Amino acid sequence: MEEVPGKTDRESHGVICGTKRPVLLFIFLPAMERRCVSLLIMCGIVGYIGYRKAADVLLDGLYRLEYRGYDSAGVAIRDLREIQIEKEVGKVAELDNLLKSRNFEGTQGIGHTRWATHGGVTAVNAHPHCDSQSNVALVHNGIIENYLEIKEDLEKEGVTFNTQTDTEVVAQLLAKIYQGDAVSSLIRLSGFLEGSYALVILVREIEDKIYCIRKGSPLVLGKGKKESFCASDVPALLPYTKDFIYLNDGEIAELSQDNIQIWDSSGQVLTRSSFHVDWDVSMSDKDGYPHFMLKEINEQSRVIRDSLLERLQDDSVDLSAELKWSHEDIHKWKKIHIVACGTSYYAALIAERLFENVTECDIRVDVASEYRYRKLKSGPDTLAIFVSQSGETADTLAAERKARTSGACCLAVTNVPNSTLAREVDHVLLLKAGPEVGVAATKTFTGQLCVLYLLALYLGRVCETLSKNKENRLVQELRILPFKVDSILEDHLLIRELAEKYANARNFLFLGRGNSFPVALEGALKLKEISYLHAEAYAAGEMKHGPIALLDPEVPVVVVIPRDELYDKVLSNIQEARARSAPIIAVATSGDQYIGTNAEDIMWIPVTEQEMNPFLAVIPLQLFAYYVARYRGCDIDQPRNLAKSVTVE
Ligand code: G6P
Repeated sequence: MEEVPGKTDRESHGVICGTKRPVLLFIFLPAMERRCVSLLIMCGIVGYIGYRKAADVLLDGLYRLEYRGYDSAGVAIRDLREIQIEKEVGKVAELDNLLKSRNFEGTQGIGHTRWATHGGVTAVNAHPHCDSQSNVALVHNGIIENYLEIKEDLEKEGVTFNTQTDTEVVAQLLAKIYQGDAVSSLIRLSGFLEGSYALVILVREIEDKIYCIRKGSPLVLGKGKKESFCASDVPALLPYTKDFIYLNDGEIAELSQDNIQIWDSSGQVLTRSSFHVDWDVSMSDKDGYPHFMLKEINEQSRVIRDSLLERLQDDSVDLSAELKWSHEDIHKWKKIHIVACGTSYYAALIAERLFENVTECDIRVDVASEYRYRKLKSGPDTLAIFVSQSGETADTLAAERKARTSGACCLAVTNVPNSTLAREVDHVLLLKAGPEVGVAATKTFTGQLCVLYLLALYLGRVCETLSKNKENRLVQELRILPFKVDSILEDHLLIRELAEKYANARNFLFLGRGNSFPVALEGALKLKEISYLHAEAYAAGEMKHGPIALLDPEVPVVVVIPRDELYDKVLSNIQEARARSAPIIAVATSGDQYIGTNAEDIMWIPVTEQEMNPFLAVIPLQLFAYYVARYRGCDIDQPRNLAKSVTVE
C-alpha cells in the first residue's frame, strides 16, 4: 500500500486514528481537473433506534423536514439482520404510499428527503445509498467536493457505481475502510472527505447501533426513554423529545436504544450535556391553516409580544440579562457590521437605519456571501452581528468566522438555540418565533426586526446617544404593534381580492425609500420565491436610472409609501410611474387623503412611528405574495428550487 500523495494538509487536521494514516491505493489527479461538477444539496436526514416502528418515526420526521428538500425521499430500515432500502421520486407522501405496501416492522432506520440542483432527480440517486455488498447504508446532507477523485480511484480498484451521486462514493469508501470498528473507520473516512457532510449510517454487522458524523452540515441528536434519534433539525423530533445535543464539526455519535455516545475527531470520548427546547409540537403543525406560510404570517403579533418579554423595563430596553456586556465593552465599539442572507439581510437593512439614528457607530450591512470575501477592516472596535433564522447558513457562518478571527465581538441573532452560529459566537440574542416551516420566511423576519430594534435601542441608551423621550416613544409603540399587526391581518380578504386581480401580471416593480426600501426588497422577494413571478425592487429615487424603461400598463408598481419624512418624494416617484401608465398598488397609512387619487389599489396599514412602519408594511406584502401564489396554484410551502436552510456555499 502506498501513501496518498499531495494530502499533507489533511494529515495535519488530526483526523487520522492510530499510528498509521489511512492508506488506499489512490492515485490522485490534480484537484482542479476534477472539481468541475458541483452537486448542490440541502437535504433533511433523520435516524431512529428504539422500540417504535422505525418507518413511522422516519416518515413523520421526513414530513417535518420536507422544507429542506423535496424532490425525492427514501429510508433504510433494519429488519432482523437485513437492511431494506426503499426510495421514491417526489415528495415524502410518495414514499409514504410506497411504504404502506411494505409494512416494515423494524425498529431502527435512517431516512432522507433530497433537494438537488445538479445530478438527476431519480429514485436511484435518492438516498439512502449503500456499497456494492450492502454492508453499509447511509444518508447524507452536504457536498463531498472531492468525490470524483475518490470515485476514480475506487473504480481503479474495481468498485462499480450505480448512481451519479457523491454520497454513494462515501458509502463505497466507508465499506472499503471498515474493519470491524465503526468509530475508527469513520475517523479514517473523514480524513479522505473534502466538503461538508452530515452522515447517518447503518452498518450491517452492527445490529444495535446507528452512527453519525458531521462536518459543516447540521445534525442534532435526541434522547428519549429506550430510544434515540438524530435529525437535521429540531422540529423533526419534537413529537418524541425536547432534549437535544448538537453534534459539533468532526464529532462522531453512536446511537443505541439506551445511550448516545460521542467521540471527537481524534477518538476521545466526550461528555456532552443536552439542552432543552420549549417549543411545542403544535408549533410545527399547520394548526388548521392550509399552509405553514399563512399560519406563520398570522403568528406575527405573538412573535412581537414574545420578543419583548423580559426585555423591557418600564419603557426602556434592558438586554443585560442576555448580553453580559460592560459599559467599557459597549463604549469601545466604533463600528457595527450586520451580516446576513436572504430575508434576514433585508431585516438587517431596515435595522441599519435605526442603528445609525440611535448610535454613533459606523454601520455597515452586507450579505454574508460578499462579506466573507471582502477586505473589511474589522477588529476589537467592531461589534459584528450575524442574523440568521436557522443559524446554519454556510455563508453566514463563514462570515462570522472571519469576523471572529479579526478580534470583533460576534453576536448571533437567531431563531434556533444551540445552532452552529449560536454556539460559535460570543453572544446570542434569540428570536422568539418558534419553528418556522414555510420556506419563505415571514414570522422570523418580524422576530429579527424586533430583536435588532431592541438591540439598537439598548446600545443607544447605554451610550447615551438616544434620548429618553425617543426611547420611551419607540418602546411604547413596540408594545402596541401586535394590535396593529392583527388589524392588518383582519383585512386579509381585501388583499386576497387584490392578489386575484394581479395574479396574471408577469412582472412587478416594487419601490420604497428610507426604511421602506428594504420592505420593498422583501415584498419582491416573497413574490418571486413563492409565485415565480418576476419582481424587482428598487429604491424609489433610483427608478429613473433604469427600471422606468420597463414600465407600461402591464407592469404593476407596488409602492411602499407610509406617512414618513420621505412621503412627498415617493409621491413624486408615483407620478413618474403613472406617467408611463403603470398601475400603482400602494401600501399606505390609514387616513392618507392623497394616495387615493394616485394609486389604483391600496393596502392600508395603521398609523405608527415612522421607525415602525416596516413591521406593518411588510404584512400586506406577505399576504399579497401568498394569495398570488395561491391563485397561480404554486406550491407555497415548498417552492421549487429553494430550501429553507442553505448549508452549502
Ligand atoms: C434561504 C431561505 C430564506 C432565508 C435565507 C437565509 O434562502 O429560503 O428564507 O432568508 O436562506 O437563511 P437564514 O437561516 O440564515 O436566515
